[in-house]
Amino acid sequence: MLKQSFGTDTHGREAHLYTLANANGTQLKVTTLGAAVVSFVFRDKNKIMRDIVLGYDKAESYIEQGGYYFGATVGRYANRISGAKLTIGGVEYALEANSETNNLHSGSNGVSHKIWDVECMNEEQNSITMKIESGDLEQGFPGTMQIKVTFTLTDDDAVRIDYEAVSDKDTVANFTNHSYFNLAGHDGGFVGSQKLKIYADAFTPVTPTGSIPTGELRPVAGTPFDFTQFKEIGKEINDTYDQLTYTKGYDHNFVLKNGGRLELMAEAVCESTGIHLYAYTDRPGVQLYAGNFIAEHAGKGGARYGERHGFCLEAQCFPDAVNNPAFETPLLKAGEVYTAAAVYRLALD
Ligand code: GLA
Repeated sequence: MLKQSFGTDTHGREAHLYTLANANGTQLKVTTLGAAVVSFVFRDKNKIMRDIVLGYDKAESYIEQGGYYFGATVGRYANRISGAKLTIGGVEYALEANSETNNLHSGSNGVSHKIWDVECMNEEQNSITMKIESGDLEQGFPGTMQIKVTFTLTDDDAVRIDYEAVSDKDTVANFTNHSYFNLAGHDGGFVGSQKLKIYADAFTPVTPTGSIPTGELRPVAGTPFDFTQFKEIGKEINDTYDQLTYTKGYDHNFVLKNGGRLELMAEAVCESTGIHLYAYTDRPGVQLYAGNFIAEHAGKGGARYGERHGFCLEAQCFPDAVNNPAFETPLLKAGEVYTAAAVYRLALD
């Protein structure tokens, strides 16, 4: 496993980049800054090596563009918490209101923006485990939490991501990975012609502002949110359906049917490269975010990134489940072990 320097954070602390590879030549790079996936390289149908996730060449760029969460591990509560507050055991905890009046991705100084420690590297399993401690009331969440994330590059060209977290007080936990995929290559531009299938018959509509789920589980049938059969991401993205206009395109949670087992959540395909992504999770939901708010700027190797140049499939508990009694609770009892998994596998079939 190759270890390289990846630059420094604002405190001058060094971030590192680790490279994992398998016998097929598939390569995964992860950095300790935000426990983030930096690149995922796969041989396409034309035998060209394609890096299919958006990212940057150094830690400094990740810090500068932190609001995009490229490839990052997000927690302690991914997605939104309404009113930037939650109540546990009758006690109200205030969080940072960093998205209108709401909390998004746990705030501007969450674990996505910090340098993690490497706990172990397992050459045999082709995996690396990173860990970080998040203190009691850090960002407002109760309990000192020990968080671990393991990235495994499998022989069949998947990155498997396993999360583990334990807190010493009752708290909430909801970790995800925020990779932006572009199956034409990270520099491939608008993802609109790539086809997507999501294993969900319903999605969670949001309020007109603030993107907070209303509690309704709305059938996707007959709406632009119907991805039950492969459909081009761009086909209806500019439709006037109100849920799409609220969020400038797809930025919604879909209701999965896995019953807590690691099962397919989505697939995506790109005709020009032949790359087929199979995504799995054991979480109840997945946020499809079609990169609606990416401003034009420089990415890896001088690539130009812009609006809708990547799509995210963020496996998660439902947004704002902490405040919404209609949703499965993300509560984590003191001493209990939270686990979650997601797999993103690439193939040419
Ligand atoms: C999530 C949100 C989006 C956006 C991105 C980060 O996917 O749902 O609205 O905030 O994170 O840029």
